[in-house]
Amino acid sequence: MTRVWNKSDWRAKPRVQMPDYPDRDKLEAVEARLSKYPPLVFAGESRRLRAELAKVARGEAFLLQGGDCAESFAEFSADSIRETFKVMLQMAVVLTYGAKVPVVKVGRMAGQFAKPRSAPTETVGGVELPSYRGDIINELEFTPESRMPDPEKMLRAYTQAAASLNLLRAFSTGGFADIHRVHSWTTGFAETDKAERYRELSNRISSALDFMTAAGVSSDRMSTMSVVDFYTSHEALLLEYEEALTRVDSTTGQTIAGSGHMIWIGDRTRQPDGAHVEFCRGVINPIGLKCGPTMTAEDLKTLMAKLNPENDPGRLTLIARFGSGKVGDNLTRLIETVKEEGANVVWSCDPMHGNTIKSATGYKTRPFDMVLSEVREFFAVHREQGTIPGGVHFEMTGQDVTECTGGVRDVTEEDLSDRYHTACDPRLNASQSLELAFLVAEELSDRREMHRAAS
Ligand code: PEP
Ligand code: CO
Repeated sequence: MTRVWNKSDWRAKPRVQMPDYPDRDKLEAVEARLSKYPPLVFAGESRRLRAELAKVARGEAFLLQGGDCAESFAEFSADSIRETFKVMLQMAVVLTYGAKVPVVKVGRMAGQFAKPRSAPTETVGGVELPSYRGDIINELEFTPESRMPDPEKMLRAYTQAAASLNLLRAFSTGGFADIHRVHSWTTGFAETDKAERYRELSNRISSALDFMTAAGVSSDRMSTMSVVDFYTSHEALLLEYEEALTRVDSTTGQTIAGSGHMIWIGDRTRQPDGAHVEFCRGVINPIGLKCGPTMTAEDLKTLMAKLNPENDPGRLTLIARFGSGKVGDNLTRLIETVKEEGANVVWSCDPMHGNTIKSATGYKTRPFDMVLSEVREFFAVHREQGTIPGGVHFEMTGQDVTECTGGVRDVTEEDLSDRYHTACDPRLNASQSLELAFLVAEELSDRREMHRAAS
């Protein structure tokens, strides 16, 4: 059966969280230009990622997805990309050690520009203006001109994404990650019991690496470690941009969103009959679907049928983001729905978006303990259900920011103002990201024990 789908069908569906561009001619001119530009990613790469994610669904690999909440034009630099990439690789090494399976690395990078917002407008000092929606749409500065959506920003986002991807491709083939320095990653950790545990784990990883070297496996031959596959992803929110970068693969005739390897649908734009689901169902990229507490069994069934009619195990990643203390009920009921449908999915945990609070000092933050506890709850539910905790999804940066409170270097509410740089949601800093990786590695060792006990 040929599926009837056209890349612009989403335009006839109800849309939410997208800007109304006042200048239609300018918008159309931008769309026309973008649709002639080269795609950023290629169909073969997205198919390969789907195959990797199919392994994740079966428990033969683990998914690590992370990066900025919102990439920004102002913070764009080779340094910031390198630092984030480096921390992701460090996390991946720690996770590989815990899981004893390959880690599939997917950045929230090279395209993560558009943001859904909780309110359409923002009021400051009695002045009401449209909300900031990400650098691809408008500007953070609080003036009427800055908040006006401008389609030409799509061209700048495309250029930045292309340059970012170019750098990432160079890093991931260049033996850039020096995994032999694993013990140095924890040097900044304070002298606490927790830090001691992490240090022990990193010593164990170090000695495993030393053993491999002694056994004659030189680091350039540890091919999966010196050459890293790294994929890109973002929320497919701004559909004019997504449609303009959609391409037909000449070898297979399949349609691909050329904006990134994997795209996801946000918790606010997952209406089964809405524009975002309509667009995503027709492209072959792996699709992520954010699942918050309001996701019903009925909606999930419809969404799985629409987004993954062939029940391909690498196609659909359900990204659970319920908030600490809310995972038990919500994840359990959604896992039951997935079981009832006999659906193949990857289960991933986003411990960030359900745990955002306002600090007493007025900053949007996320207490690191809540982030950790949501991850623990996620693993515990999968343990109970006998299902596979396939991956984690977070907002992080390689920079030493102070945006989330807590961690072994204990960021306090008073510290938040020191280096609070995010254009949108608070991110884990490098040290907190590594700490999280150590925690997940411990949980993953348990997953292995379970597997062993069961087989
Ligand atoms: C995000 O991932 O940045 C996001 C907005 O998430 P969610 O759709 O889960 O709220
Ligand atoms: Co976010």
